[in-house]
Amino acid sequence: MQEKIRNIRSEFTKDVEAVADIGALEDLRIKYLGRKGIMTGLMSGLSSLPKEDKPAVGKELNSLKHYIQDQLQQKKGALSRQDKKGSERKIDITMPGILPHLGTKHPITQVLQEMNDIFISLGFSVVEGPEIEREFYNFEALNIPLEHPSRDAFDTFYIKGDILLRSHTSPVQIRIMEKTQPPIQAIVPGKVYRPDAVDASHSFMFHQVEGLMIAKGIKFSDLKGVLGLFTKRMFGEKTKTRFRPSFFPFTEPSAEVDISCFMCQGKGCRLCSHAGWLEVLGAGMVNPRVFEAVGYPPRKYTGFAFGIGVERIALLKYGIDDIRLFFENDTRFLEQF
Ligand code: DAH
Repeated sequence: MQEKIRNIRSEFTKDVEAVADIGALEDLRIKYLGRKGIMTGLMSGLSSLPKEDKPAVGKELNSLKHYIQDQLQQKKGALSRQDKKGSERKIDITMPGILPHLGTKHPITQVLQEMNDIFISLGFSVVEGPEIEREFYNFEALNIPLEHPSRDAFDTFYIKGDILLRSHTSPVQIRIMEKTQPPIQAIVPGKVYRPDAVDASHSFMFHQVEGLMIAKGIKFSDLKGVLGLFTKRMFGEKTKTRFRPSFFPFTEPSAEVDISCFMCQGKGCRLCSHAGWLEVLGAGMVNPRVFEAVGYPPRKYTGFAFGIGVERIALLKYGIDDIRLFFENDTRFLEQF
């Protein structure tokens, strides 16, 4: 009997090793532990044994039963772990995935960054100033007198008293000069606000990049050099610049700067209204009255300033004919850049 028990144990051990799935394991359980199974057969054989052998054989039968139960349990665990791995592997990795929707940088942001990069490469640092500004910085310190039309309520958003939304980035010139002694070489990118009726070329909010360079002995030719480099990098190496006399209260002399039309190389086309030139920015030598307003010693320094409309540059660069497209936030338009 004891030998029989040993044989069954080793037979079961082989059987359980060979099992490959849960179904076969269940068959094995029935074979050994089922009501008509091997163990039941052995147990019933116990009664025909001599009385003195019964306890020892009974003990061995019990131990065999526990061994079988244990092994079956372990195998079940192993098989179900394998099963999980198997189902993970069943993921079809060749199936096309769901693409996340990636945005793009707004064209104005892109042009602004390009402008910043050009001026940074020429040694300018980038400074920002407040969009909510005082009249003193927006007008007075820039030599814009009370009777100037730009101070009219039709041309400036007043908030309360002398607080307004800046109508240009030029007030930051004053803030820089108040804080720093020359040499100064800075640009100021940012938003500006004017209560203009919105149409294809006007918006109540747009962007400017202000430029300021002050030191001893800065000349108009330095301004021409810097802006010439800027327009070439922005619109191509063949671009020519032209300075026309103009007027701004905070610069003297002042100039309106044109570039040769990059579409027709100056021959005249629809983009440049057959003029061959495109107006891109305002500039000039800093008016000594501005130096006076910030308390710089008279005649010690000279400098130039310029103001560039970012939307204007972007419209020209991308050949867009309506400024409103930039602000409607239609992704079908924005994703083209
Ligand atoms: N602030 C002027 C405007 O908004 C633009 C401008 C012109 C700025 C000439 C300058 C400058 O610094 O020198 O129309």
